[in-house]
Amino acid sequence: MKDLRRVRIAELLKDPTPYIGKEVDVKGWVRSRRGNKYVQFVALNDGSTINNLQIVFDLQKFSDEQLKPITTGSSIHVQGQLVESQGKGQSVEIQAENLEIYGTANPDEYPLQKKGHSLEFLREIAHLRPRTNTFGAVFRVRAALAYAIHKFFTEKGFYYFHTPLITASDCEGAGAMFQVTTLPLNDLPKNEDGTIDYSEDFFGRQSCLTVSGQLEGELGATSLGAIYTFGPTFRAENSNTPRHLSEFWMIEPEIAFADIRENMDIAEEFIKYCINYALENCKDDILFLQEHFDKGLVERLKFVVENDFVRLPYSEGIKILEESGKKFEFPVYWGVDLASEHERYLVEEHFKRPVILTDYPKEIKAFYMKLNEDGKTVRAMDVLFPKIGEIIGGSEREENYDKLLKRVEEQGLDGMDWYLDTRKFGTVPHSGFGLGFERLVLFVTGMQNIRDVIPFPRYPKNCEY
Ligand code: 4AD
Ligand code: MG
Repeated sequence: MKDLRRVRIAELLKDPTPYIGKEVDVKGWVRSRRGNKYVQFVALNDGSTINNLQIVFDLQKFSDEQLKPITTGSSIHVQGQLVESQGKGQSVEIQAENLEIYGTANPDEYPLQKKGHSLEFLREIAHLRPRTNTFGAVFRVRAALAYAIHKFFTEKGFYYFHTPLITASDCEGAGAMFQVTTLPLNDLPKNEDGTIDYSEDFFGRQSCLTVSGQLEGELGATSLGAIYTFGPTFRAENSNTPRHLSEFWMIEPEIAFADIRENMDIAEEFIKYCINYALENCKDDILFLQEHFDKGLVERLKFVVENDFVRLPYSEGIKILEESGKKFEFPVYWGVDLASEHERYLVEEHFKRPVILTDYPKEIKAFYMKLNEDGKTVRAMDVLFPKIGEIIGGSEREENYDKLLKRVEEQGLDGMDWYLDTRKFGTVPHSGFGLGFERLVLFVTGMQNIRDVIPFPRYPKNCEY
């Protein structure tokens, strides 16, 4: 092989003009090989784009024996001249001159032979599925969205604030935490009353994986002004649904001096910015996903970007559901925690656009939300999306020390002094929300199951790799 600099296929295809007629160097995995006894065509993919590069092997230059290892999934290094393509389906191709085989992929063993494997089958080989067109597209879109999120908040003056993954507090109070321990599970140290003696545990107390970075995020916001977190969160709920994961990523901005209205404005602007970023920067991948999985994808994404979200109090939402005449699986009444079917009715059938539902009954929301004057509802705001249901959950926070203390005591929460201190010393009105990252990726890619938008999904009874 000659000493040349490798070019990524995305760069070659984006603007081939400067490369045409020149010798180029590419490396990648073989997607397919076809041809006849004079010439062989190889579709090469290096992961940088959904598009393959065609490599042409002239059989006067290369023997059958040399080309034999080139099967689907094998990895190769090719040098040759980039020329305008004669054939249909691609603008340019490489006339191979030098070939190096990095690794073979025995066709009798390599599972990704033909196209059209089911997503369920691919989930069982999650270690190989990123090599398919579909998962390549999904994970490139996922990466672009992560970048858009950092870009949005950084440009708005928010600081990226790192909150702990191991914590002693249950932010959402749902009791769905994974415990972290180094105690010997078959010989636990006990107190005299028979309870477990956590003073012998690694941290000297009971500790868990976080369900949300919000509480610590509030410490950041009430000092740096505006922060966001972006990290993994863990929930041990036994929810086997296409919208729940046991390990998922969440983005949690927290803004000092913001009330619920400003919170809603930022949430709406933020989510539109991310979707628009993907539309502008992931065109090829989104068009591929649209063609194969979801014919209405681009139209739906554009619709969300271009239209105002409805803002509606919970009580009015309940009225609409009660008067809809629709038979729901779960009952509707004031005070009920809405099920996904209720949320989707409001969004998909009634308003036909995203809805921000506010002012929920305090009983069904977390302790930290600001109580309204009615004493019954809290200043919560959930953003509900078509096909997804709840994509964002947030609120204005209770900033009054006495009221917050009362809620903490009502819920029987211990060890919250550090959190209450934010209200004791220089308290300020503030708000924030959490966006479930995988639910956003689900929406933007048009995939149906949340397990297909994270490389290695964690869900009940599944923790491979
Ligand atoms: O509504 P949640 O539970 O809100 C919080 O955790 C707040 N502390 C956020 C805040 O105000 N800073 O979760 C926020 C979002 C949901 O709207 C949903 O999109 C996502 O996180 N989410 C999940 N995504 C995947 N799998 C799960 N099990 C999820 N649970 C929540
Ligand atoms: Mg929620």
